[in-house]
Amino acid sequence: MEINKLRVGGLLLPSNILMAPLAGYTSYPFRMLAYGLGAGLCFTEMVSANALKYQDRANKLLLFTTKDEPIKAVQLLGGSPAIMEEMAKSSLLEGFDLIDINMGCPVPNVFKSGEGSALMLDMPRASAIIRACKKSGKPVSVKCRTGIREDEMFAAEFARMCEYSGADMVTIHGRSRSMMYGGTPCYQEIAQAKAAVSIPVIANGGIFCAAQAHEMIERTGADGIMVARYALENPFIFSELTQKPCGRTILDILLDQMELAAACYDESFTLVYMRKLASYAMKKRKGTKKYKAQLYQTGSLKELQELLLAIFS
Ligand SMILES: Cc1cc2nc3c(=O)[nH]c(=O)nc-3n(C[C@H](O)[C@H](O)[C@H](O)COP(=O)(O)O)c2cc1C
Repeated sequence: MEINKLRVGGLLLPSNILMAPLAGYTSYPFRMLAYGLGAGLCFTEMVSANALKYQDRANKLLLFTTKDEPIKAVQLLGGSPAIMEEMAKSSLLEGFDLIDINMGCPVPNVFKSGEGSALMLDMPRASAIIRACKKSGKPVSVKCRTGIREDEMFAAEFARMCEYSGADMVTIHGRSRSMMYGGTPCYQEIAQAKAAVSIPVIANGGIFCAAQAHEMIERTGADGIMVARYALENPFIFSELTQKPCGRTILDILLDQMELAAACYDESFTLVYMRKLASYAMKKRKGTKKYKAQLYQTGSLKELQELLLAIFS
């Protein structure tokens, strides 16, 4: 697999190995970690354009970033072209370099509201949303699936619509909505989408080791890959794939993450985030299961730090 820089609109990504948006995880600290290990682009988790418009505090917190984040990409979720345009152009997103549009979320409430993967069933509206976001003057990307039902996939047609509407990149999660997060990714659907457009196509889904990352590129011909759940378990996947020197242990990383999260958010956010992150990291380590209950009972950062030392030293 070739590790390349990747041009997306006017941006030059340092590598074609991307970190996926993951609700509850890809806040500022995790994105900084992934960039440090070689990821070419990281995204905020999905941020509802409607909630932002109505000044929802929790949603605004999802936009937290600093000047140290190398490339700032926000993912917006929404079904109204007018509201998406208003938010894409709003001062809230002023500091962001790229806007990604969520057209893949399978969650029933989101789908019923005509957002996320529901947009795959309404190409005129999906197209209007892309054109609306482009009015921000920033590069715009789309993250979608291969379709809604497993027996009726149309990733190539959808990718063509994205390109025609002005998108600068499209990421395809190689599963239909009905497949949710399970099953082998549909390599052929991604390959067909790649062949159908000239904007960069990023392949996502089911990458749980370096060999699967290579397989994804080989079988789809995609311009890059996007790692999701596996990066929580093994963030070193980015340095492994990009050959970026790392020289740190998982304990170093978790302690750094705790410090950075505590500097950016309050203690309760930091505790919740760190418990989830440590729990994913424990999947890779034998004999750590016994600490799981303790991990979720830690009531202060000091206690958490002691437990992390006990588990990962
Ligand atoms: C906990 C969780 C949260 C997610 N949050 C988002 C999100 O905010 N935006 C998005 O586009 N996809 C989201 N996804 C989907 C992932 O980005 C990715 O497409 C999916 O997990 C498939 O990749 P994987 O099989 O390598 O994990 C989420 C997935 C999970 C498991």
